[in-house]
Amino acid sequence: MDTPLVAIVTGANRGIGCAIRAALVQQLPGPLILYAASRTGGSIDLLGLSIPPAVQICPAQLSLTDKASITALSTMVGNEHRGCDILINNAGLYYFQQNITAAQRQETLDVNYRGTLNVCQAFLPIMRENGRIVNVSSQSGQLKYFHPRLQARFLSPDLTFADLDALLGEYSRLADQHTATASGWPSLAYFTSKAALNAATRILARENPHLLINCCCPGWVGTPLGAQAGQPPKSVEEGARIPLRLAIGDIGQISGQYWANESVASTGNGKIQDW
Ligand SMILES: NC(=O)c1ccc[n+]([C@@H]2O[C@H](COP(=O)([O-])OP(=O)(O)OC[C@H]3O[C@@H](n4cnc5c(N)ncnc54)[C@H](OP(=O)(O)O)[C@@H]3O)[C@@H](O)[C@H]2O)c1
Repeated sequence: MDTPLVAIVTGANRGIGCAIRAALVQQLPGPLILYAASRTGGSIDLLGLSIPPAVQICPAQLSLTDKASITALSTMVGNEHRGCDILINNAGLYYFQQNITAAQRQETLDVNYRGTLNVCQAFLPIMRENGRIVNVSSQSGQLKYFHPRLQARFLSPDLTFADLDALLGEYSRLADQHTATASGWPSLAYFTSKAALNAATRILARENPHLLINCCCPGWVGTPLGAQAGQPPKSVEEGARIPLRLAIGDIGQISGQYWANESVASTGNGKIQDW
């Protein structure tokens, strides 16, 4: 029997993550072992899908703010399968209101940037040749929301994780002093967290040329997260399209790029965009 593909989807219990894992099951004939990770690690709704016999879905516990849970999952996948082919970092959070607390700001950076990066770094040692990592980002991470001086730092071709940490440290200090916006940062921490995720994606791709590592905006999608900003035009199935393309579609050898549609309402499957 062929070696099964091993795939991980984070935040797979609801929203876009739920649609991503359903689409993976529908579009990959197997053999496939799919870890559907969620904070509770509880059993997952199979959405009435008939699961092909060569597909195995395993619920898994993962909290992006608990490094031990990240290490435990990568160790378990490494021990049981000696490799991973597809990692889709979909889990994320968005405090949409302007006046969030310092703790909510920190949580936003910890989940959307730090926790997602920790998952990437925990899985890198077991990613198979030509394996794919997809980081679900957002159009909110686009650098047009940042001062040109900050844009240049995020886009530096030599950017390191230490530089990125320094940038985020600077942002947090200014936000504590309520001077971040006046200093050229966007007003919502979500925007900074997703720009950092895009920058981290570029660094990871540069450092791991044997993998395809990309990030994307799924568009404006009808989930509790998306509905904070109004009436989202896209379904979760439509929101899953770009992440799915980056995970299993034909993207040649492209790595380190940000993919999105022309507008957040478009239901296309994305193209490379500046961010
Ligand atoms: N919806 C949109 O319009 C939109 C637009 C642009 C980008 N995105 C991005 O798309 C991704 C999915 O968003 P969604 O709209 O599907 O949101 P959602 O319905 O709110 O689902 C978010 C998922 O992330 C998980 N999550 C949150 N915090 C976590 C943590 N600390 N550890 C582990 N899992 C955590 C949630 O788990 P629980 O169920 O345990 O809370 C849930 O599974 C996010 O990265 C988001 O930023 C969404």
